[in-house]
Amino acid sequence: MTNFSTIYKLFLVAVFCFIHACSSSCPVLECWYVQEKAGARGGLSAATSQEKSLLYISTDAQSHSASSQRAPSEISPDRVYFVTDPAGTLCHHALNPPRGSINKPLCEVNPFLPQPSTLRWAAPLTDSARSPIYLQADWFSTSHQGVNKQLTVSSIMRAPTATKELDVILSVTSKTVSVRSRLGERVLLDCGFWADPSTPLSESGFALEWRYQFRGNGRLVVAYNGKTDRLAETQEKGATLDFEALHKRGNASLILQEAEVRHSGIYICTVYLPYLVAQVTVELEIVEPPSLSIYPSPLPLAVPGQILTIQCEASGFAPLSLDLSWQFKDAGGKIKPLGSGSVTGHKQAWDGTYSQSSRLELDTTSLDLGREGAEVTCVAAHLGGIRRASRTLNVIGFSTPTIEDSMAMVGVALALYGLIKFVSWTLTSSGRKQSRNSDHKNCIVC
Ligand SMILES: *[C@@H]1O[C@H](CO)[C@@H](O)[C@H](O)[C@H]1NC(C)=O
Repeated sequence: MTNFSTIYKLFLVAVFCFIHACSSSCPVLECWYVQEKAGARGGLSAATSQEKSLLYISTDAQSHSASSQRAPSEISPDRVYFVTDPAGTLCHHALNPPRGSINKPLCEVNPFLPQPSTLRWAAPLTDSARSPIYLQADWFSTSHQGVNKQLTVSSIMRAPTATKELDVILSVTSKTVSVRSRLGERVLLDCGFWADPSTPLSESGFALEWRYQFRGNGRLVVAYNGKTDRLAETQEKGATLDFEALHKRGNASLILQEAEVRHSGIYICTVYLPYLVAQVTVELEIVEPPSLSIYPSPLPLAVPGQILTIQCEASGFAPLSLDLSWQFKDAGGKIKPLGSGSVTGHKQAWDGTYSQSSRLELDTTSLDLGREGAEVTCVAAHLGGIRRASRTLNVIGFSTPTIEDSMAMVGVALALYGLIKFVSWTLTSSGRKQSRNSDHKNCIVC
């Protein structure tokens, strides 16, 4: 009996340790603390300073035990922080890879200055709310990139002045750091936010903005004020939010009904609370492999030694980069590369997709054209995959004739026979006439 209770106790201890280990699996994040250098404004060089910093993450303030405070010597004690993140966003496994992993999550901490937003759709958040005491604190913004592009997080944290205990007040995340979609598909760009329900700021609502950015061009995709329940006017068609999920769960994901080439680019999801703002970026790439066609189709019968001109057209692909090449497969199945032919410049269609073609001058003398089954293949290597199109090569004298061919040959032979007959008949008959005439002449003469 004593044995049993001992085992039972040990089991309980094990379970307790396990649960404890799980709950304390929040990481210690190595970050760069980046701030503008005092007095460096206006100067071009070294306007910011970087220091190593350490963030101990926990889901509740109590578990920041003294035992965990063993910061490496190269990190200044001033840059060691204890972060309480009740939502556990920063405890995601992508920010906490196993020890010794080559891939490390990225992290940056900056001082943050709370201020009212001047944007039309976010400005009403600060109409009435004023929280001077609450805002008088040390504020920080952090941004995190998880390993393997699994997660990106931006947080706003608050610490009572001159303390090192930070509370996450707002965090914005995305689990689709980089999205690839084919044309016409429905696309979901993930974005979610969490606001500390105990902060006086979250009472006055939030605003959300999705902005598109590509090579210096930007446009507003969706802007929504959750306090007034108003959407801003935008030019964008086919982009929506799930408003119920947004209000209930902070699910701010953007839905694009049908992917188009022009949707490729960077999307910025920005969440505003009164005086606070945090954003994450998501990259969308529309990738559509080409459709191939070969001309002429079918290939004409070639005479051995003839040079055949074959065209391969790749169309409907995006992005632009494409590698066209040719292959020849002889009757035995052996493949020989024929190079890329002469590739034309690309054209862009109304829907933004590209087309490009390649012309091959195929010299039939240099190839081993067997009895049948020799094939020419056009190969298109694209980000969206490899596409191939093949045509059989038929060479006169090699391919076994089909029934139609045989019939045609018999027909041709008959026709030729008839023609020869006719020609020879006309020739002999005119010959006879001539000889008769000459006989006659002869007669006259004689
Ligand atoms: C967010 O909402 C979208 C649209 O309703 C849904 O497809 C997606 O799964 C939701 N994301 C999360 C994390 O719940």
